[in-house]
Amino acid sequence: MTPHRPRISVVGSLNMDLVVSTGRMPTVGETIQGSAIHYIPGGKGANQAVGCARLGAEVSMIGAVGDDAFGQEIIRRMKEKGVEMNHVTIQKGVPTGTATILHLPDDNCIVVVPGANGSVTTEMVEEARDIIETADVLLVQLEIPLQAVERALSIAKKAGVLTVLNPAPAQLLYDSILRLADYMTPNETEFAILSGDRSIEHMDLTTVLSRWQTAHHHKLIVTRGSEGVSYLSEGQLKHVPAPKVKPVDTVGAGDCFNAAFGFAMACGYTIDKALKFAVKAASISVTRFGAQDSMPTIEEVGES
Ligand code: RIB
Repeated sequence: MTPHRPRISVVGSLNMDLVVSTGRMPTVGETIQGSAIHYIPGGKGANQAVGCARLGAEVSMIGAVGDDAFGQEIIRRMKEKGVEMNHVTIQKGVPTGTATILHLPDDNCIVVVPGANGSVTTEMVEEARDIIETADVLLVQLEIPLQAVERALSIAKKAGVLTVLNPAPAQLLYDSILRLADYMTPNETEFAILSGDRSIEHMDLTTVLSRWQTAHHHKLIVTRGSEGVSYLSEGQLKHVPAPKVKPVDTVGAGDCFNAAFGFAMACGYTIDKALKFAVKAASISVTRFGAQDSMPTIEEVGES
């Protein structure tokens, strides 16, 4: 299907996800019973790396874990899934990042404690310079320090590597970072935070996207959960609807979208085809449990 095996580098977070399944959200001060707990590797960076590897890419992960059992387990399981982990630093005396996830029937909420992710430095990114420069695509998110994100984007951009910035969790970003992204992929809430608007429901999306793209010199793709994605194509607002599915677990759906989009762009797909591919991949991922275990293979997604 692909003329060459796409090479993707991911500079980002690795977490152990503590997933507690429960029927409803507790109210403040209330204790309720959950039905199960699972310890599964997660983190936006690691999820995107595994998503690309499942699709068939050659993937290198750049980041950090702590010198604890969670860190060892994450490295072991990601290697098993085919991700090259030589540039994941094991930080002494620091805990591995964790995400405590309340997994509800239709949604989830997450509390992240960054741990070792917070100690990723520009030097660590520099050590992976060759890997970043020789990739087809670089994927970054915002669960590691911004200086490290910026350095990775800068190395890739100078080398002509396509850059995808997934601004999650959302925070206001300097133009020095924004201008290094070729594509930015916020969800609706993240875009509202980035653009300083309260809600995109009340916006004329064509105008807002077009202003943003002109100001920041990159393409914006707004992900809209079960509604699919919206983007501009030659000035016209376009939507890629998501197939209707029965969700089992939505954790990692955004990561699956970014992984599949990065993979498709690395394969040389047009933007329209890449987005259809990525929306389909994400819709498959929500029908299964776990962020990394739910990532589909290329055979499951097909060519869209
Ligand atoms: O995007 C989902 C991820 O966000 C989870 O795996 C969790 O680790 C948090 O980082």
